[in-house]
Formats: sequence, structure tokens, C-alpha cells
Amino acid sequence: MKMYTVAIVGATGAVGTQMLACLEEQQFPVGNLKLLASPRSAGKVIETPWGAVTIEAAASEAFDGVDIVLGAADDDVALALYPEAVKRGAVVVDNSHAFRLDPDVPLVVPEINAADALDHKGIIANPNCATIIGLVPTWPLHQLAGVTRMIVSTYQAASGAGVPGMRELEEQIGCMGRGEEMPAPRAFAAQLASNLIPQIGGEKFEGFTSEEMKLQNEGRKIMHLPNLRVNCTCVRVPVLRSHSESITLEFERDITLEQAREALAAAPGVKLVDDLDAQSPHDRWPMPLDTSDQDLIWVGRVRRDISNPDELRGITFWCCGDQIRKGAATNAVQIAKLLVE
Ligand SMILES: NC(=O)c1ccc[n+]([C@@H]2O[C@H](COP(=O)([O-])OP(=O)(O)OC[C@H]3O[C@@H](n4cnc5c(N)ncnc54)[C@H](OP(=O)(O)O)[C@@H]3O)[C@@H](O)[C@H]2O)c1
Repeated sequence: MKMYTVAIVGATGAVGTQMLACLEEQQFPVGNLKLLASPRSAGKVIETPWGAVTIEAAASEAFDGVDIVLGAADDDVALALYPEAVKRGAVVVDNSHAFRLDPDVPLVVPEINAADALDHKGIIANPNCATIIGLVPTWPLHQLAGVTRMIVSTYQAASGAGVPGMRELEEQIGCMGRGEEMPAPRAFAAQLASNLIPQIGGEKFEGFTSEEMKLQNEGRKIMHLPNLRVNCTCVRVPVLRSHSESITLEFERDITLEQAREALAAAPGVKLVDDLDAQSPHDRWPMPLDTSDQDLIWVGRVRRDISNPDELRGITFWCCGDQIRKGAATNAVQIAKLLVE
């Protein structure tokens, strides 16, 4: 079997750390591993399934001899470095927002548009985390009845803002427990513990934020639906890990509740947990604690949209998924596997 030289950029972050575990779990054929981060982390040694690896500062020369780059750093790092990595012969799977809407860059969720990944010019983009979590269960319903409109509210975990977001929530919960004065927020605009923050990203379009517009713009590209209508509200919640979403879909063809449930139960990447009568709450509906640190998108509360005048054209559901895994690292390694299989 051919083995590959793989580099992770942002290897010390929330997504980069998870990528290491995903490479091992998905049995990616890693021959040689390079871990890159900011100059602050250079020289640190990380134990990996492929031995101890010393972190290098990310720079163009670090990509010499690299076959596949998994990008887990911010947009500015991606824009500065990944075209250089491509010039040196690497294929980059990037988690930042930098290239997602570039017409020359495929934007891929393997359960939906795996074939797009093979039509790359050196860079493949991993979609926004809330977009992946919402689209994985939307896709099988779209295949049945043709989705025309999505109305979505997201409940996004602190770790969506990386290691600094996780640390800040943990610190705030600790302060509350000890009755200490709360330090000023840094990763978020306001205190998150015991609170909700109804803005993620800056303003982008008519009062909608950049995070909210990603679901429309990236969703259209991934599902090849240029006219998809999306109305999304993104909210940061005091949950450490795993995003949740309430989604209402409108369809162009009829779909019964039974058909929707059957399609969701059979869909790759989806687990249906939908039984209001179940004895255990864990079997009644998906919850972020239950969906943390695993790869499936759990779907529940599947019901007809009673506000839709056409009773067979609207479905509402709730879903939760680990955004560091399927929303980022797992999806990126799945894409990389498409390239080598
Ligand atoms: N967290 C999520 O749920 C999630 C989901 C989907 C996509 N994403 C995207 O994934 C990317 C990483 O997010 P994250 O949550 O993992 O962030 P994070 O925990 O803050 O980690 C950021 C990583 O970037 C590295 N870095 C910072 N400056 C750098 C530089 N100049 N050169 C090279 N590396 C540098 C950091 O290294 P140091 O430790 O040395 O500073 C760290 O390894 C972002 O583009 C984010 O939007 C995140």
C-alpha cells in the first residue's frame, strides 16, 4: 500500500488535535507525519500513533515532500501558505473559510458530493461546521422530495471558537461555582456561562451574520442548488462541545413523515434517535452531551411542519453533531481518503 507524507497545519488547536486521532481511526496510510503550528509552539514534542513529532513553525519550505496537507488554522494562514504548498506538489484539505466559495475549489461533504473532491486544482475546502451538521440529514430528504427552503436555528458550542473558546467557558463555569468575580470575556463578546449569545461572526448581509450566510452560500454550492432559500439564526450556547440545530425544510414534492423517518434511518452519517416515549432521555432525542466525541449526526423530533399550508411539503427536525469531528476533522480526513482510495 502506498504511504503518504501528511502535514497538519494548526496541529496544536482543537481541530488539528482531533485530526491526529481521526487519521488513526480512519486508518489513513500515514508514512510520515509533520505537525505545524505558530512559532509559539515550534519545538514542542507531541506523542502520536506514528511516534513523537516535534512541532515546526508553519512556513512554505515545511511543505517540501508533503503529499497531503490538512489545514486547521485561520484564513490568513491558509491564504498565505496553502498556494505555496500546492506549488510544491501537495494537495490541501482546508478547514478555514478562505477558499470555500472559490469556484476553482471543491467544497465537500463526502456523504453528499464526494465526486466533487476529485475535480480539484490542489485545494479542497471543508465546509463550515454548522453547515455540515445541518446538511448531512437534509440531503437524504432532499433526494426524496427536493428541498427548496431551509429555516434553521443553531445552538453552537463554545469549542466552535477553538481552544480559547473552550477554555473561556470552563473558566467561567469554575468562577461561577466558586462564587468568584467573572473575568472579562476574551473569546466571546459577552459572558457565555449561564447565557446565550445571539451573534456568531460579523454582519454580512441585511442584518444576517457571516456564520448565518455560510449555511446559504455553502449549502447551495455543496448540494448544487443555486436557488436554495435559507433563513438562519446562529446562537452561541454554554455547551462545551457538539452543535445542535432546529431545522424546518420545505419541499417541491410530497413527502410523508414515514418516508422522511425511513430515509433518515437509512442515511449514511445519520443516526435516528426519535422516540418521545422511550424510557431513557438518551433514547428520546439527540443531546449535545450524547453526541460529543463521535462521528454521526443524530436526528430526532422529526415531525410535520404544521405551519406549512401544504401538509406534505414541510418537515421539521432537531439534530446534534460533534463539530470538531464531523464538522471539521472527521470530514477533512474522509475527503483525504477519497483522494488516496
Ligand atoms: N473549532 C471548530 O469547531 C471548527 C469547526 C470547523 C472549522 N474550524 C476552523 O478550523 C480552523 C482551526 O480552528 P480551531 O478551532 O482548531 O482553532 P484553535 O483551537 O484556536 O487552533 C488554531 C491553530 O492554528 C495555529 N496557528 C495560529 N497562528 C498560526 C500561524 N501563524 N501559523 C501556523 N499555525 C498557526 C495555532 O497554533 P498555536 O497553538 O501555535 O497558536 C493552533 O494550532 C479555523 O479556520 C476554524 O475556523 C473550526
